[in-house]
Formats: sequence, C-alpha cells, structure tokens
Amino acid sequence: MADLDDIRDGDNFGLNTPAKSSNFYLNGLDGADWGTKNRMSRIFNQKSGRTVMLAFDHGFLMGPTSGLERIDLLIASLADHADCLMGTRGMIRSCIPASNQKPICLRTDTGTTILTEMNHNVLISEEEAISMNASAMAAMLAIGDAETEASTIANFSQLVDIGNTYSIPVMGVTAVGKDMARDARYFGLASRVCAENGASIVKTYYTEGFEKVVAGCPVPVVIAGGKKLPELEALELCYNAIQCGASGVDMGRNVFQSEAPLAMMNAVKAVVHDDLKPAEAFDLFNTEKN
Ligand code: 5RP
Repeated sequence: MADLDDIRDGDNFGLNTPAKSSNFYLNGLDGADWGTKNRMSRIFNQKSGRTVMLAFDHGFLMGPTSGLERIDLLIASLADHADCLMGTRGMIRSCIPASNQKPICLRTDTGTTILTEMNHNVLISEEEAISMNASAMAAMLAIGDAETEASTIANFSQLVDIGNTYSIPVMGVTAVGKDMARDARYFGLASRVCAENGASIVKTYYTEGFEKVVAGCPVPVVIAGGKKLPELEALELCYNAIQCGASGVDMGRNVFQSEAPLAMMNAVKAVVHDDLKPAEAFDLFNTEKN
C-alpha cells in the first residue's frame, strides 16, 4: 500500500497542454478496441467531440420525481433530440420505443433508495445490457463514503471487466460522499478513481477549479446538472464546464424540469456543440419556448 503519511495535492496539471490522442478523436481511448471506439462514436458527436446525454435514471432512487412522472410522454418526446439516453432497463424497456435510434447508456447498477441507506448497490446482468443493445453501461462510485465506497468500486471494476469483454464502454458516475466537500479536490480524486478503474467516460459535478478535475482524468468527462436551476444559470454551468475541458453533459433535472424541456435541450446542445455563450443560448431558449 502507498505510504499515506505524505499525500501531496497535485499542482502540475499541464493545463495548457491538452492530452494527445493520435488515433481516435476522444481522449484516452487510443488503446481501446474497435467495438468500444465504435460505441463511443455513437455517443460523442464526431465534429465537436462532445455529447448531450439525457439522464432520466433518477426514479430507481427516488420514484416518480417531478418531470419523470410519465417517461413515455416527456422523455420519449425528447429522445430524438438528445445525443444519448441514460436510464434504467425498466424505464427504457417500458417507455422508450424499441425503434429508438439513439445510443443507450444503461444504468447497470441498482440497489437501495432514498428511503433507506443509499448506494448499497449490485450490478444487473451483462446479458441485459447486451440484449438491450447498450452503447455504454453506467455505474455509480460512492467515493469517500465509508459504508459503500469499497462495494461500489468493486461493482465498477467488475462492470469494466464485463465491458472490456464485450467492448461496451463503462461510465463511472461519481456520487457525493457524505462527508466530502464538493470541491475540485474531491471531484478530481473521485474522477481519477473512475479512470484508474477503467472508465471510458466519467460523470461528475462541475465545481470551481474544474479544469484540474478534467486535466487529471485522461478520458472524457461529462457533468451532471444537479438540482434544478434557473435556465440561464444552468446554461452558465454547462458553458463553464465546457470551457474547462468537459466533453459534454449527462443532464436530467435541468432539462426535464424546465418550463420548456425541448427548448432547454436545444439551448444546452448549442452551448455544448457550438460553444454558444450562456446569454446567446438563453436567447435561443426564450425564442424556442414560445
Ligand atoms: C444519479 C445520476 C443522475 O443521472 C444524475 O444526477 C444526472 O441528473 P441531474 O442532471 O438531474 O443531476 O446519475 O445517480
């Protein structure tokens, strides 16, 4: 085990020197095989190198939360406008038409809900992910949570083994450990743990100093939106993350709880793919919502 006496925070992230990727357009995936790269190419736009994933997996933790009461109505109507759909097998199978052509990032861990102790999760079977034609599999890591850190990292490592066997990229989703500060040091550590354990995509939260989180993580980083914000603030969050080097968003509440979800989705896409400034994207939102 590494000596824990003298853990020094990294301070040499080479922020002006992007990581090289010579054979493939996404960071850190030169060594991946054809199937993994092909699936990543379905998720990440090949022109911008970025993605707007629509997250609607919240129900397995919290039930029919606001905006997700009828996934067959709202989410299904947004599906064609997202770059990728992130959800659980139950909601995808029952509410998203099988004719869907958008790549699926399948939530592959499941477990306890908000009613008990969170994050006591297990993996669903790999046969399920394969039969659903998943383009990626996602599982959560509770870094810093004494109760569940070890089991969620073990789940994740097992999922990466499965993903590598079938060339299905795996996305690490960083939960916020109960006693951890939500800062760049924490998210940098959590994101790096995902990458060290074989993630092809890391999903985490934007914070001040996010450029260090991205620089310390050699594979594409996408941000969750977090709790619902006013639309302009949510667009600023996306913009700031992209300017810090994020490869997109995997956003839920700030899209499906918006007063105009499709207009918000299109505004987020304009920030992510076309580098629109937040105020310009907000104008687009206001134009489209009417
Ligand atoms: C929770 C998740 C959610 O998908 C994630 O938080 C994204 O949704 P939001 O943008 O609403 O935060 O992975 O485990």
